[in-house]
Amino acid sequence: MSNRVASPRERFTELLLRADSEGFAVPAFNYSDIWDFLAITEAAEQMRSPVFISSNQRVVTDIGIELCGAIGAAAIRRASIPLIHHLDHSNRAEICRAAVDNGYPSVMIDASSRPLEDNITIVAPVAEYAHERGVLVEGEIGRIKGAGVEGMYTGEDFLAQVDEAVRFVHETGVDTLAVGIGTAHGFYQGKPEIHFDRLEEINHAVSVPLVLHGGTGVSEEEIRQAIRRGINKVNVGTIIHCTYMNAVRAELQRRGENAYTLDVMVPVRAAVREEVEKWIRVCMADGKAR
Ligand code: 13P
Repeated sequence: MSNRVASPRERFTELLLRADSEGFAVPAFNYSDIWDFLAITEAAEQMRSPVFISSNQRVVTDIGIELCGAIGAAAIRRASIPLIHHLDHSNRAEICRAAVDNGYPSVMIDASSRPLEDNITIVAPVAEYAHERGVLVEGEIGRIKGAGVEGMYTGEDFLAQVDEAVRFVHETGVDTLAVGIGTAHGFYQGKPEIHFDRLEEINHAVSVPLVLHGGTGVSEEEIRQAIRRGINKVNVGTIIHCTYMNAVRAELQRRGENAYTLDVMVPVRAAVREEVEKWIRVCMADGKAR
């Protein structure tokens, strides 16, 4: 038997396939700085849940990819659960390559705003670069509606097409596929209309794990239905930064002027941790770390 160590790409693909067969999803939480980063990792450790911890393009630009990469690498080294530091929604190949070079085990290259041909042309070389270095790659087909730090989409033409999904996966070699099926980034106006039938069709047509974006505001029942019908990773962002900022506001009000940073941030971290724990349960990922 070979003693070769499995790459992050191999390990995390195996994890997502296990999620598929055991009927849970690996949650993916967006962080903005060290305090929500800690809240997410602590919740996942506490609940023995595998977890993606994601920085979007704005975070890596404002904090710096070297620092984000170093913090992620240190967290991964000390984690006792599968902890997957992930670059979320990058539409720039050079940022994806920089993430790979700075120790991210997982990146998303998102060219879904472009026609299929361009989406393939942009994603394929990023996947090749990442795969040569053992890194997992997520691509996207269809569009995620709404406004978020990753961008804004208001059109009606959002629904992922099955034939396009098949071609995209085949020609890019992506390891996971985000699908536009009606979910939106940010809070929903009214109830989300999720196209579960399309999700199921895509799930039958491609073999790679599928990703649901826009978790905030989707009910527990609908997240679980999505998991039953093929979703293996669930992205949650807005509710994390809103919980964070609302807790900051409440703590500042409580403590008044000249409050000490850590007196404010330690309870904020606890509030975010509680929200993360709720989502881990919704994804049925608690106790699934191996
Ligand atoms: P929400 O902000 O709607 O939870 O979506 C997050 C997301 O999909 C990040 O990729």
